[in-house]
Amino acid sequence: MCGIVGYIGENRALPVLIEGLKRLEYRGYDSAGIAYLKDGKLEIKKCKGRLACLDPMVANETIDSHVGIGHTRWATHGEPNEINAHPHMSFQSKIAIIHNGIIENYMRLKDWLIEEEGVEFKSETDTEVIAHLIEYFYEGDLLDAVYKTIDKMEGAYALGVIAKDEPDKIIAVRKDSPLIVGLGKDGNYLASDIPALLQYTRNMYLIENDEVVVLTKDSITIYDELKRIVERDVFEVTWDIESAEKEGFEHFTIKEIFEQPKGIYETLNRRLEKTNTINLDGIKITKENLEKINKVYIVACGTAYHAGLIGKFAIEKFAKIPVTVDVASEFRYRDPFVDENTLFIAVSQSGETIDTLSALREAKRKGARILSIVNVVGSSVARDSDDVFYTWAGPEIGVASTKAYTTQLIAMYLIALQMAKTVGKIEEVYYQEIIEELKKLPEKVQQILDNEEQIKQLADTQFNNEHVFFIGRSVDYDTALEASLKLKEISYINSFAIQAGELKHGTIALVEKDTLVMTIATQSKLFGKVLSNIKEVKARGAHVVAIAQKSNQEILKVADEVIFIPDTMDEVAPILSIVPMQLFAYYVSLARGNDVDKPRNLAKSVTVE
Ligand code: F6R
Repeated sequence: MCGIVGYIGENRALPVLIEGLKRLEYRGYDSAGIAYLKDGKLEIKKCKGRLACLDPMVANETIDSHVGIGHTRWATHGEPNEINAHPHMSFQSKIAIIHNGIIENYMRLKDWLIEEEGVEFKSETDTEVIAHLIEYFYEGDLLDAVYKTIDKMEGAYALGVIAKDEPDKIIAVRKDSPLIVGLGKDGNYLASDIPALLQYTRNMYLIENDEVVVLTKDSITIYDELKRIVERDVFEVTWDIESAEKEGFEHFTIKEIFEQPKGIYETLNRRLEKTNTINLDGIKITKENLEKINKVYIVACGTAYHAGLIGKFAIEKFAKIPVTVDVASEFRYRDPFVDENTLFIAVSQSGETIDTLSALREAKRKGARILSIVNVVGSSVARDSDDVFYTWAGPEIGVASTKAYTTQLIAMYLIALQMAKTVGKIEEVYYQEIIEELKKLPEKVQQILDNEEQIKQLADTQFNNEHVFFIGRSVDYDTALEASLKLKEISYINSFAIQAGELKHGTIALVEKDTLVMTIATQSKLFGKVLSNIKEVKARGAHVVAIAQKSNQEILKVADEVIFIPDTMDEVAPILSIVPMQLFAYYVSLARGNDVDKPRNLAKSVTVE
């Protein structure tokens, strides 16, 4: 959740830290801080609020320090305030640390440090315990003290450590929280995410779990958990920093919504041959593998979970293989039926979501084959999987996931179609029809985006609602879930999704005059049923906005307003129907004056359980 960065080298450290943190602010933004070594002393500057709160503290000083660490926080232990902000200092001010993750046994360690050593704690954080422990174990060898400390710690962590008595190094540690190290010309870097370092270097080391790294200004040494030196290939980042910038859009979220035609095109094109065959090179969906499989689990969180629901629909529809979809944080604790005959599909934009990663590891331990759908190349989920289908959404910065979602849907359809073909469960004509329709989607999404004004106007009249309902049937219900999540997370309106046919079993009691009911109605075989559901809520005074395929003009007679999407095959309609809902959420959020890209209480990459 939090962002961490570090630098040691010829250049002044502070500008590097601040620039790096700017690129990481989407990971957490309730407080920020830096620590650096100057004239043989450790200095810390930190504050509550966005990163900009550091500006007055660092702006007018040309602090001549060449080694430092920085942090942008998403609070877990202790409210967001200056004291709880990182970095944290040890009791004799010898060690400063930054941390992303959660130390699960920190209470025990804290009690022990207080009782045995009389250590006085300043903050409510779990992190502070780490700084004190490192100092407690320090006997002239920082690396040794760090190893002794992590031996006592349970939980997830990426750490950056600097020490007053060893000013020539930064030590970084990774366990279940993302960490990369950058090799620069004038020094070396650490960060929780690639964009933080791209302006300095494209050459990175992807640090694995349980590894410890010693960075000096001209060397990087990686050690494994037994303190043996590890050789690692340099990972060269090929994507551009520009693709992570706003390019004239007011927010990353709207820019990313508009990038969907490109993301869909790229994700499709990298997997489609001219002959319309799907090329899943590197992914072993062989007949032999599939014949062994008696269970498919799709596991993910939030928006990626909703992509999983549509994946279930596609795999069951095309390949006739039953699928269970589960929320990752629940899956692990269910003692799920997973064995070597299970195909486990993990879906994750970031590839760093700890719930998804832990579920994946649990499934792997039980022998399942792991296929992941991931956007970030080289991320933890990707690295822990047997097979990876990379989506080509490009970097997603806005906290609300948009282009990652539609590209995840494309990945799901391609995997489902390929499975269907491999097990011989799909007619060639039908298969070709779906592929041809998928190819038309970039153009059709563009047509929806061109209709932005209608959705903006709708948002401008509806932004003051206290509650919004989203209803639909079958895959339209799955889309309703995602549409509702999008609206609530960036507008803070209390919205929820319900199956249109389930309304009458209780929830319809909440519908009153002018309640906004957004109705997704793209499925022709359910169209008549949804029309009846619309009538039911209208009879209670609801204001109904329907999302329907263009040729379903009949809906104009029952809904108060209709947003038409281009005609398409019902099977792939979810890839289109979500787009106006993303635009709606964006414009409602804007009309309410919210910070669209960084909604309250949220962070882009959820690396705590
Ligand atoms: C919502 C959103 C989250 C993520 C979820 C999983 O817009 O972005 O619900 O989808 O936190 O994240 P990833 O896909 O990175 O595993």
